[in-house]
Amino acid sequence: MTRVKVRPPKPRKRAEASAGIEKKSWKPGNMLSPVPAVLVSCGGTKGLKPNLITIAWIGSVCSEPPMLSISVRPDRYSHAIIKATGEFVVNVPSVDQAKATDWCGVVSGRDADKFAGAGLTPAAGLKVGCPIVMECPLNIECRIRRSLELGSHTLFLAEVVAVQVSPELVDSRGRLNLQRAGLMAFAHGHYFALGRHLGHFGFSVRKRKKRSRA
Ligand SMILES: Cc1cc2nc3c(=O)[nH]c(=O)nc-3n(C[C@H](O)[C@H](O)[C@H](O)COP(=O)(O)O)c2cc1C
Repeated sequence: MTRVKVRPPKPRKRAEASAGIEKKSWKPGNMLSPVPAVLVSCGGTKGLKPNLITIAWIGSVCSEPPMLSISVRPDRYSHAIIKATGEFVVNVPSVDQAKATDWCGVVSGRDADKFAGAGLTPAAGLKVGCPIVMECPLNIECRIRRSLELGSHTLFLAEVVAVQVSPELVDSRGRLNLQRAGLMAFAHGHYFALGRHLGHFGFSVRKRKKRSRA
């Protein structure tokens, strides 16, 4: 991975750069970018077949208890399954599953077995009845705590009840190296592989260590 030094521009330079430039107004809409695009698995219990739905409207919402949210349109085949079972798994794909992620977002479980069609392997969850996707480096098992009908979408607020990670991402000291997973992002209708490393959490305030002369 290439590392580049990034420093905030000096205030004077910032003012010069924006002088004479006017912003354009854009129609209000869901412009937040980039976002993750994940494979959410559901079903597999209560006589409901396992299914996969691609979700980009997802976010972490609480640390204690660990919670996340997904927004699903009621007309999705997965919606009734998630509502009936009260659980789902967020399978975070790597670039290797980019095509499968897109495919599961354009085909409905009403018409296809998406695990078979996407060439993905279902495996048992630790705490939930629905399957995880083996090929995805990170599987986040969730149980719904609350649902909110917002309009076009239902917001499912869920607690993270178990997490599974691919063993090659855990080093000999037991640390998780998720940056090695080849993660991707979704921005304005396009999928991207995460690329250049810009810094770690807090790098903007961290003092450089002086090199020892010894
Ligand atoms: C990149 C991407 C992101 C998507 N995000 C969402 C989302 O957040 N919520 C949603 O309801 N549908 C979303 N969709 C659409 C569903 O994944 C799609 O309608 C899917 O075919 C529904 O599958 P199902 O009918 O088997 O549930 C997305 C599709 C793609 C390709």
